[in-house]
Amino acid sequence: MRVLVLGGGGREHALCWSIAQSPKLERLWCAPGNAGISVVADCVGLDVESAEDVVGFCRREMIDLLVVGPEAPLAAGVSDAAREAGIAVFGPSQAAAMLEISKAFSKEVCVASGAPTAAYGVFDTPDAAKEYLEQHGAPIVVKADGLAAGKGVIVATTMQDAQNAIDSIFDGPGGGRVVMEEMLVGEEASFFVLTDGDTVLPLAGAQDHKRAHDGDTGPNTGGMGAYSPAPAFTAEIECVVMERIVSPVLAEMRARGMPYSGVLYVGLMLTAEGPKVIEFNARFGDPECQCILPRLVTDLLPVLLDCANGTLKDQPLNWKSDSCLTVVMAAQGYPGAYTRGDTISGLDEAGAHADTLIFHAGTKAQDGVTLSNGGRVLGITALGPDITAARNRAYEATDAIQWENGFFRSDIGWRAL
Ligand code: AMP
Ligand code: GLY
Repeated sequence: MRVLVLGGGGREHALCWSIAQSPKLERLWCAPGNAGISVVADCVGLDVESAEDVVGFCRREMIDLLVVGPEAPLAAGVSDAAREAGIAVFGPSQAAAMLEISKAFSKEVCVASGAPTAAYGVFDTPDAAKEYLEQHGAPIVVKADGLAAGKGVIVATTMQDAQNAIDSIFDGPGGGRVVMEEMLVGEEASFFVLTDGDTVLPLAGAQDHKRAHDGDTGPNTGGMGAYSPAPAFTAEIECVVMERIVSPVLAEMRARGMPYSGVLYVGLMLTAEGPKVIEFNARFGDPECQCILPRLVTDLLPVLLDCANGTLKDQPLNWKSDSCLTVVMAAQGYPGAYTRGDTISGLDEAGAHADTLIFHAGTKAQDGVTLSNGGRVLGITALGPDITAARNRAYEATDAIQWENGFFRSDIGWRAL
């Protein structure tokens, strides 16, 4: 098979690494890719949000399967355009990706399908949102309705913070509409399923660390580390989530004429009353993907193709018994301003152990040297018989990496230990 993966982060490196192991693969491309991905795939400079660019490339190279990593190409309608051109696509339609793109839509689908989620209201003006705030008080969660690159959610502990959050969202890129939501209390976990629209295969649970610094302090990031499986996400909770959330939500999407296919990321709060939906994403988590795929034994590529073609079999996937943990190395300053172009060395030594994988996120290769080229730069990933062993091995690998302006959290996995 000839496969094109869209994206260039750690998630896409993990996807390409996994796909590259398939005996069914003939050739793999990734757009735009990164230095690490270029070892397993041909990196190409396409505009991944341009349907014309992507479909044109797929036609020229006779691509059998398009795998969409991030949400932006979905929101731009690239998956629909490729499907219309007769290309098999792993990734939901633009309409189905509304589960991630619009928080108001995802809440509406939760309510219509009976999936437990926080009580909420949707408002088109700051005044209406503030009236709801007066009625419900703080703490409260204020969310931009649209995609806001991880900056659209404010958990406000005071009335003043909530008012400021409302104002900042109406002035910001997600603008126009806010979702006001009850604050849920509990431990967060993510759960991933694969689906072709009808059949659903549970993938795995994971937990990530969103804050930049140790002790879950500092600003929110895309994720500074993750591990899977997550002990807090028990088999019993998984059953409840499949039954009360995943199945009814996918049925509701079918009933609305927008069947959801691809990977569904269910962001959960494990509350005293049971798991509740925080959000849905129409893609793999990053860095969750990096610590889920190394545990998978089943060949991923045919499963992705089955999701795309509507032929997914109700056959459980096979997994290693190992745990896996990823430590993200980021550029000093991230998630704020940071510099690019620093030399990074020691990567071969760091990844020398068979159970250690160095996934690249923001890197580029230049004259045989690896340079930093983003905020989150590397995902140091290790397998081990339990979380402690995986964590020790991942941190050992970080010792081998020389990068003056890099930083990482030293407490990834603390919740699970
Ligand atoms: P999101 O961008 O939707 O993933 O939200 C970012 C983060 O905000 C989540 O990972 C949670 O930590 C927090 N959050 C979102 N919604 C709620 C909620 N209803 N209650 C408590 N925390 C929330
Ligand atoms: N790690 C969180 C996300 O991918 O949204």
